[in-house]
Amino acid sequence: MLFLGQMEERKQNDSPALEQPSPEVQHPDAVSGSAPDVAATDKVFNAAPEPAPDALAAEATSAAAPAETPPPPVSATIRLDKKHPLAIRWMHWVNFPVLFTMIWSGLLIYWNDSDNAYHHPHAVYRVGLGPFTLFRFFPPWFWKAMDAPYHVTKGLGYHFFFMWIFAINGFLYVLYTVLSGEWRFVVPDKKSLKEAILVTLKDLHLSKYLPPQTKYNGAQKIAYTSVILMGAGSLITGLSIYKPTQAHWLTTLLGGYEMARWEHFLLTMGFCAFFVIHVTQVVLAGWNNFRSMVSGLEVKSVQEPSLEAERKSWG
Ligand code: HEM
Repeated sequence: MLFLGQMEERKQNDSPALEQPSPEVQHPDAVSGSAPDVAATDKVFNAAPEPAPDALAAEATSAAAPAETPPPPVSATIRLDKKHPLAIRWMHWVNFPVLFTMIWSGLLIYWNDSDNAYHHPHAVYRVGLGPFTLFRFFPPWFWKAMDAPYHVTKGLGYHFFFMWIFAINGFLYVLYTVLSGEWRFVVPDKKSLKEAILVTLKDLHLSKYLPPQTKYNGAQKIAYTSVILMGAGSLITGLSIYKPTQAHWLTTLLGGYEMARWEHFLLTMGFCAFFVIHVTQVVLAGWNNFRSMVSGLEVKSVQEPSLEAERKSWG
């Protein structure tokens, strides 16, 4: 599946109990003998238990007994890395039901246009050329299943209330990522496009090479940044059709009232597509990845770079 990349490999660390301690694997910091850089926030699991005091005493008194071969030294193979800060987790999970409510209430409003499609000149939500309409979105059974008919005012009420939560939550998320420096993990850089292509080829089993990544791979960076920009786009197009008189300059800039409605609708379809792909990726990436968006911590191999060390390097 697309975008999964290294997330799939991390999935293998999901069951620490099954992992065999390997004498070859050393924590990078253990080589230099200094304290692990991740000690403050990362918990390192040592598979080698401390010898019991009784065992040491017995060893001292039986010096004459033939020496047994000591077991090889065992180092940590996995640790917990702090992946998602609390603020990001909160804002991510608040966004999910709020966006859901925005889409549901938006559809209640949109039914009105759909139902009257053949009775007034609005021809926004359709695919066609000039007067020829190939199809209009959503068949009657869809509206019936949603219990949408004649619930326009209910839709408007929910839409205009939850839009504030959507806007405030989105604004706080952007503010937090900018102030904390977390944006560095999310915003694509000049390597991201190439990286996204390589990750996609790997996920399609067309290549074995996986570029190194930090928190997110190039494809994830592009997808997450796009969805944040789409959120801003929904607010801007929404404002232009909510207050087309007061914000007439904005409505004009977006190509006029009908065009702004169409853009608003297309962005909503984009959210739905993002949601399907995003949740599929999360399911395929596995429990370790999902759990990190709940607890903030991810089980990682000691060989993988520490996100906490990277955060510290920002200064
Ligand atoms: C059932 C619904 C959802 C689930 C289970 C889910 C799960 C997750 C998980 C596990 C991650 C972390 C990915 C990783 O660490 O590699 C993530 C990140 C993210 N998700 Fe979702 N998500 C859901 C809905 C949404 C929705 C509706 C949106 C927005 C439209 C969204 C936008 C994002 C963004 C922007 C990130 C990156 C956040 C950051 O690190 O700053 N998610 N999601």
